[in-house]
Amino acid sequence: MTRHQLSHLGIHGILTPTPDETIRYFHDLLGMDVVATRGDSTYLRSFNTYEAWTLKVTASDRAGLDYVGWRTDGEEELAQRVAWLTDAGIEGRWVDPDEGIGPAYAFEDPDGHEFRIYWETERYVPSEATRPVIPTNVQAYVGRGANVKHLDHVNLLARDVRACREFWEDGFGLRTYETILMPDGQREAGAWMSSSIQGHELIYTAEKTVGRARLHHFAYAVESREEVLRAADIMADARVRIEAGPSKHTAIQGFYLYTIEPGGNRIEVAHGGYLRFAPDQETFVWTAEEWGKKPGWGAPPPPEFHVYGTPVVEELADDAARVPTLGPDDV
Ligand SMILES: [Fe+2]
Repeated sequence: MTRHQLSHLGIHGILTPTPDETIRYFHDLLGMDVVATRGDSTYLRSFNTYEAWTLKVTASDRAGLDYVGWRTDGEEELAQRVAWLTDAGIEGRWVDPDEGIGPAYAFEDPDGHEFRIYWETERYVPSEATRPVIPTNVQAYVGRGANVKHLDHVNLLARDVRACREFWEDGFGLRTYETILMPDGQREAGAWMSSSIQGHELIYTAEKTVGRARLHHFAYAVESREEVLRAADIMADARVRIEAGPSKHTAIQGFYLYTIEPGGNRIEVAHGGYLRFAPDQETFVWTAEEWGKKPGWGAPPPPEFHVYGTPVVEELADDAARVPTLGPDDV
């Protein structure tokens, strides 16, 4: 098993066919600040992010994932991971520093999602207007819209969840806190992974369509469950589609609100999720039967929650039935 190599999820990018509306969603409704605009891309940050920016929104002909970035534990760890990828026969490329962050090494996971790993980063320097009164804060409290603090996790759809999970465990030392088995007891319907004690940073759930490399959602954290409820009021009045919640997941137990931003990407406002302090914490493996009993509470997400992703693909895979509806809350 590879030792700890990745520090945390960092910079990340989404694609949108409606960049103006998407940026308004992140600025006005989520409460992020625009840091820079370069060509077709806009860089945004949330107020508890120590890096200069966190989200890059890029205009495209369709919605979807651009990339997911991890900051490594150091320069040496970055070199070691690039060497591991090369030894494993996984092609990658170096990406020049982008608005002060990087260089980054870009590669694909087994399903084709682009990831980038990097060490060098530019820290946020507040202006007079954004300087916090308490110097240990990164930035003054924003208090606009849902007032998200930082990126919490990303959920990607994958044809082979197990292959993706093993890729990150073997190559990067991620911990897996929970998995759900399919009824055959072999294939996996979901895996919740993390570089830290945080219950989830990277989630894979089973892809039911003929698509590949699709995004299920990015989630941004708020301070309390109450702020998730408040976000629902804000989104409703803004006529943003609320797909699911507010409610509580069984896996990792985060409190959630799922919306569809104007470009079509699913974005979550999230709070909580458990922490696991034990360094030898074992993965909790749900059987399909156990999961189907849905311990816990909360209204079920609609069926489309388990199919919709970006880019939008409506054609189901021939073997879509391999991914059973395990319960009303199966991701
Ligand atoms: Fe989530």
